[in-house]
Amino acid sequence: MCALSAQSTRITIDSHRLGEELETLASFSDSQSPSVTRIVFSESDRRAREYVKGLCSEAKLAIREDAVGNTFARWNGERPEEAAIATGSHIDAIPNAGRYDGTVGVLGGLEAIRALKRSGFAPVRPIELLILTSEEPTRFGIGCLGSRLLSGSRDASVDEKLEDKGGQTLREVRNAAGFSGNLIQVLLPRGYYRNFVELHIEQGPLLEQEQLDIGIVTAIAAPASLRISVEGQGGHAGGVLMPERRDALCAAAEIILAIESAAKSTGSLDTVATTGICDVFPSAVNSIPNRVRLEVDLRDIDEQRRETVFRLIRQQCDEIAGRRSTGVQIEVVNADAPGECAPEVVDAIEGACRTNQLRFQRMVSRAYHDSLFMSRIASTGMIFIPCREGISHRPDEYASPEAINNGTRVLAHVLSELASK
Ligand code: GLV
Ligand code: MN
Ligand code: MN
Repeated sequence: MCALSAQSTRITIDSHRLGEELETLASFSDSQSPSVTRIVFSESDRRAREYVKGLCSEAKLAIREDAVGNTFARWNGERPEEAAIATGSHIDAIPNAGRYDGTVGVLGGLEAIRALKRSGFAPVRPIELLILTSEEPTRFGIGCLGSRLLSGSRDASVDEKLEDKGGQTLREVRNAAGFSGNLIQVLLPRGYYRNFVELHIEQGPLLEQEQLDIGIVTAIAAPASLRISVEGQGGHAGGVLMPERRDALCAAAEIILAIESAAKSTGSLDTVATTGICDVFPSAVNSIPNRVRLEVDLRDIDEQRRETVFRLIRQQCDEIAGRRSTGVQIEVVNADAPGECAPEVVDAIEGACRTNQLRFQRMVSRAYHDSLFMSRIASTGMIFIPCREGISHRPDEYASPEAINNGTRVLAHVLSELASK
């Protein structure tokens, strides 16, 4: 314990370098700065991966990639055969995003490892930095693809089942990006990791409002996503009289509002529903929409309550479709259980906050993260840092260098504690 405290005092974070690396990573984007768009397996994603792997090699970490592109950068400890301690997050970004979501956990994780190396720390267990593929659902409609596969939460059949908007399967897209091999190999052997610790911006306003430095995540809300197809009848915008119409978009508009009402009906601020995608066919101003495809994100801390809202949405869809003589089909893309963080990791984070005299609180994560799936195979915890006004998934997302430094320092301390056991 004494040795660890002496060790702790030598851990210093190179904020300047970390800030520059975050800026460089943000430059690999398909949209104009400050907006960041980096869809999985795009050219920008490929260049970003090369950049981060280069930094990991400079840090003398051994790099391995799996068939879906999850990247593992390993620092072997005194006992390489022991279950490893992992950290990391994602570097893909939704369209028109900011530069901190996910990237702080990857580059902050790398800086935490470098800081430990500089301090002379010698891990007993291996420490691994993970860059997880497609945490964002943008391309294939499902989030946390890499961590789902390596934790066995999805099986290899997604390779053919998942398609992007252009009709390319996951297999085709990942092969073209240079990731071949059977997805079965992505599943990690039991006991591969002992712990996983993810550093992430809060993506909510609470830490800033309470003037706190660190949020210690105790649980992660249960996410679900639905794909709703509405089938109506197309026709000439001038020729078809109003009483004759079976306009798919008008039905979809009612459905979107019904989804909003269903989420509000629980009376709990923890229930949230968002219709983020509405594709209209044939999408011509003088043509009655004959088909609409909605994508809906539904979340709650309480899984049962989320299921109740989902049942209500189903009933409403049937009622609206019946009244408007349209068809409606609902596909559940995913409906995941909430994740629990492990007391062992929560306590280690709290200890690191105290050592570093940082103000902290325990909290739940309303956003989902790869930690949700990592918690199924390793005892897991998350370190949140404040972001300005809680803004995220927008170009004006911002976390201060001081906040990033605090989170990275806490992460380094937690990794040193966990990797010493
Ligand atoms: C993660 O990006 C989420 O949408 O919660
Ligand atoms: Mn995100
Ligand atoms: Mn994220």
